[in-house]
Amino acid sequence: MPGITDAKVERWLLGTVPPRTGEFAAVEEEAVRQGIPCIGPYEGHVLSQLAALAAARDILEIGTATGYSALWLARAVAGHGGRLTTVERDPTRAAVARANLARCGFGAVATVVEGDGFAFLEGGTSSFDFIFLDMVSALEQMAQVDRLFDLCMRRLAPGGVLVSDNALHAGQVADVPVPLGAQRYVRYNRLALAHPELDTVLLPVRDGLAVSRRIALASRG
Ligand SMILES: C[S@@+](CC[C@H](N)C(=O)[O-])C[C@H]1O[C@@H](n2cnc3c(N)ncnc32)[C@H](O)[C@@H]1O
Repeated sequence: MPGITDAKVERWLLGTVPPRTGEFAAVEEEAVRQGIPCIGPYEGHVLSQLAALAAARDILEIGTATGYSALWLARAVAGHGGRLTTVERDPTRAAVARANLARCGFGAVATVVEGDGFAFLEGGTSSFDFIFLDMVSALEQMAQVDRLFDLCMRRLAPGGVLVSDNALHAGQVADVPVPLGAQRYVRYNRLALAHPELDTVLLPVRDGLAVSRRIALASRG
């Protein structure tokens, strides 16, 4: 999926990301070489900054793939005793992600759960102060978007931040009519923008990020 920012600007922005070295750089290079879907360095840095700005201590990611975005999230919490839980339904990818996080020094910070994201969200009651959703693309029915969103709201702590990837879907969310493939993102964005306990902003980062902060009802201006 092409980015929505001008290619020249994308390249320039890439040059502003702190250098990745050692095993981190190797994981990045492997993901690119093997064609593993991943958020890439610029969005990774944005995500890491968002988690750090939110002072996140307990992060949940749904849709790990081989752990590239998880590295950026783990990096945000590793310095202050935070934790990352990341859920991936593909057993091979989950195992690679576990190994990648360990080789980058995040084995004690991050837990890779092999399983279905819906089942994980339904199966617990603890809350997370930062949730990164990177699996809306796998949802085939609109009702699954609603269910996923509701489950995330159930597990999002007061003041917590909910981030969803591909929110602009190559800019197709702005097309009239909206192409079928983009409709699930339009649905997610609508839910996030309309929820009375969320303050949501859509950022044109790579393929788009929907960033929502859970606010107390009384504090909405
Ligand atoms: C776009 S990739 C994730 C990329 C990763 N976040 C990164 O940037 O490095 C989406 C992943 O979500 C996983 N996935 C799809 N549906 C899922 C579900 N219901 N539960 C858990 N994982 C799921 C897919 O197997 C795939 O590896």
